Amino acid sequence: MRIVNTVAELRDAVRVWRSAGQNIALVPTMGNLHSGHLALVDAAKKKADRVVVSIFVNPTQFGIGEDFETYPRTEAEDRQKLSACGADLLFQPAVSAVYTSDAKTVVSVSGLSEGYCGAFRPGHFDGVATVVCKLFNIVQPDVALFGLKDFQQLTVIRTMVRDLNIPVEIVGVATVREASGLAMSSRNGYLSAEEKTTAAKLYQTLCVARDAILAGAQSFQEVERKAILFLQESGFQPDYFSVCRVSDLKKADRDDMDLVLLAAVRLSKTRLIDNVCFSRKPQFHSDVLLSKGN
Ligand code: PAF
Repeated sequence: MRIVNTVAELRDAVRVWRSAGQNIALVPTMGNLHSGHLALVDAAKKKADRVVVSIFVNPTQFGIGEDFETYPRTEAEDRQKLSACGADLLFQPAVSAVYTSDAKTVVSVSGLSEGYCGAFRPGHFDGVATVVCKLFNIVQPDVALFGLKDFQQLTVIRTMVRDLNIPVEIVGVATVREASGLAMSSRNGYLSAEEKTTAAKLYQTLCVARDAILAGAQSFQEVERKAILFLQESGFQPDYFSVCRVSDLKKADRDDMDLVLLAAVRLSKTRLIDNVCFSRKPQFHSDVLLSKGN
């Protein structure tokens, strides 16, 4: 695996691949790689001839008092993992290689960036959209892969790509979970063993809420209220728990069929997010039809 730190080197490598007719996938990350990231690389290998992974702890998506300084940086381990899973190139730029000190342009996806995590982390999604847009311009990938765990982030990025006509296919990859159900996250490293046991209850709460809706619960507000109460009783401080529609992340109403439950909680000093996405449309089971001879 080749490792480059500058935009010029990255572009040279990509140019060589392009001239050989190869297509390129990008997996943007902030490092401290876990099995969730490696699943993105695996999915990328199936989509393209060459896989570029970026590791860049992006300062503009961290607010004042957040964990930019202490965010886990595990360069040596990350490099080993990426080589072992077959990434072709690691792009690991310094902050000065990505941002000029007098940069004046910010990409902002209004209407999707202010709610949910955006309400608790003002400016966060502007930082994400700006750096992802820059990475797309630097690498010019055919396809880029992101984890579904960051569902709001994925929606912001898809919308940015649509609105700015960026020629890249965006692929969302299923959340990888520990046996307990806890979604893999670099911030899980902040949790004690006891907190990790509690943290698994976030996904359990999401599943209970999903099952209640699928079983016909009429009031989404009531589902949210019960989930928040359960989370509080379990030791979390919930930031939000919301029944949303997938298309635009607005609060869902009774007619909406494709739903996502978005949740963010704080457990001691650690902030965790997770979601479950599902449809209330009756499922089409081809195996049932086949067994009936249709
Ligand atoms: O999800 C992340 O790791 C980051 O938000 C991303 C997409 C790499 C942008 O910095």
